[in-house]
Amino acid sequence: MANSKYEYVKSFEVEDEIMLPNIIVVHIDGRDFGRFSEVHEFVKPNDKRALELMNDCAKTVSEQFPDIIFSYGFSNEYSFVFKKETKFYQRRASKVLSLIISYFSSLYVTKWKEFFPQTGMRFPPSFQSQVISCASMEVLQAYLAWRQRECHLSNQYNTCLWELIRNGKSEKEAQEILKGTHKQDKNELLYQGFNINYKEQETIFRQGTCILKTEVQHIVKYNQDGSPVQRLRMKAIKVHSKNIASRSFWNDYLCLCRELGQFAEDVNKIKPDYVKSFLHVSKLMPSTWIVIRVDGCHFHRFSDVHEFEKPNDAQALNLMNSCAVGVLEEFKDIVFSYGVSDEYSFVLKKESQLYQRRSSEIVSAIVSLFSSMYTIKWKEFFPQKELKHVPYFDGRAVCYPTSEILLDYLAWRQVDCHINNQYNTCFWMLVKSGKSKSEAQNYLKGTQSQEKNELLMRLSGIIDYYNTLPLMFRQGSSVFWHTHDDKKMSNQGNEAVGKCCKVVVEHCNIIEKSFWEAHPDILGEKFSCCKSLGCTFALDSHHLTRRVTCCDCKVAKFARSDSLSLLEQPSTNCL
Ligand code: GTP
Ligand code: MG
Repeated sequence: MANSKYEYVKSFEVEDEIMLPNIIVVHIDGRDFGRFSEVHEFVKPNDKRALELMNDCAKTVSEQFPDIIFSYGFSNEYSFVFKKETKFYQRRASKVLSLIISYFSSLYVTKWKEFFPQTGMRFPPSFQSQVISCASMEVLQAYLAWRQRECHLSNQYNTCLWELIRNGKSEKEAQEILKGTHKQDKNELLYQGFNINYKEQETIFRQGTCILKTEVQHIVKYNQDGSPVQRLRMKAIKVHSKNIASRSFWNDYLCLCRELGQFAEDVNKIKPDYVKSFLHVSKLMPSTWIVIRVDGCHFHRFSDVHEFEKPNDAQALNLMNSCAVGVLEEFKDIVFSYGVSDEYSFVLKKESQLYQRRSSEIVSAIVSLFSSMYTIKWKEFFPQKELKHVPYFDGRAVCYPTSEILLDYLAWRQVDCHINNQYNTCFWMLVKSGKSKSEAQNYLKGTQSQEKNELLMRLSGIIDYYNTLPLMFRQGSSVFWHTHDDKKMSNQGNEAVGKCCKVVVEHCNIIEKSFWEAHPDILGEKFSCCKSLGCTFALDSHHLTRRVTCCDCKVAKFARSDSLSLLEQPSTNCL
């Protein structure tokens, strides 16, 4: 890692370790899944393919991360329970929740075709996550009982609602009929009105799905005499159960008792105070710049497996940039972002009220969207390369109190980009010239910037070689909204001047103040508002139903556009 005078900004990062003996649960939930299910025509109230897709992703997540010992999900949510003593990413909440959500999001995109072979994905799915820390087994038990009760209640309600709608009621009328009804009333309505015995509904709908680990004998090789050599291996299995918080269910699975502990007694009533604690979320400090930094997980290996060009692969960087553009278009409170290598920093405006500044929601939504876009867009940037590993990213939120400190943060990242790039360029040139990797490393130990530049000139035979490299490699990528005047004809045939805004990717020096002086909009007031003559709208290109939002006053309009899908649309547009 590079050292620079800007490194002090690291001290603004806060510790968020979940202390022992708390049990870590990561809860994930589909983001705007009402619209996602509508656009992709999920069957109502339950789409079995969609549920099986969620289950399959959860199964793969628990196989990928051995410390996840139990998971439970229904509808578009899942809860992952880690073993008690886990050291997973040293128990840091934002790391844990972002890695899980990112991996899950990429999997959802990857596995989509398996479950929906006839339906193209119209826009990137995304999820939100949160860490729930359970101070004891009793609290975990209450949590699981609470989630399974929610599964039951929402399924029963939705089954009634959609039966009423299918039988001629409007959604409003159906909601009115169900207002204030109890469990028993709903069962009767289903039975008397629609000849449905609720208890005979599929278990996956009524009970949700558990994924748990069991030990199985696994043949690793065969001896010369043909006898198998077996080892114990943890295998994830899918189970349905009426009461996942009961002692009898828990005691049936050895590894649950061993890795988490036993339930002392069965729960009859879920304590409201526990539920309150499950709903508690911490908020980021008001009136501070929020920076969300996402960073590729194990990208050293990922770039090797996918044979990225060394030290810089322009297509890999363009893919990262394209995802950043998508994130800016989705979250209008992001005023600037800066990316280098496998990382991207997103700056939210000081007064942002996105998710009421709830840290886990902001981090997870951005990381999740970034990950699913990276997976979706892979083919566009690497048409010849198969995606062999699931790409995933971690994320964190840091608050910076003043613009000066924020600019120092960005300068820190750009200095890092320069130092790493200069080092890596030298390193790979030495390797190309015949040195081994360790020889190249030793050669560069302790060298200053000037010496590295001279080395590059000597090896390449080109004067000032370093500065001939593409700007994107040397300065990273800055992504931000750009406005310019746009002449348009009004309905009355008059010419009106409006502001047009689009997201741009530039490679510039953001350490020097001149960049910020030339772009006062970025950290200051952004665009003129609807109140002025030319109303300013940015086109949100993710949406099938295009959501057109005025950049400042946030007036949202909807325009139907059947023929547009995310991948076909230009990344920037304006009306
Ligand atoms: P964690 O983030 O801790 O999981 O480790 P990591 O393996 O992702 O490494 P880190 O984030 O520290 O650094 C990013 C790594 O991604 C670099 O060291 C490179 O190995 C790789 N990488 C990123 N961009 C490129 C590229 O354009 N070309 C190549 N060849 N590798 C790249
Ligand atoms: Mg990384």
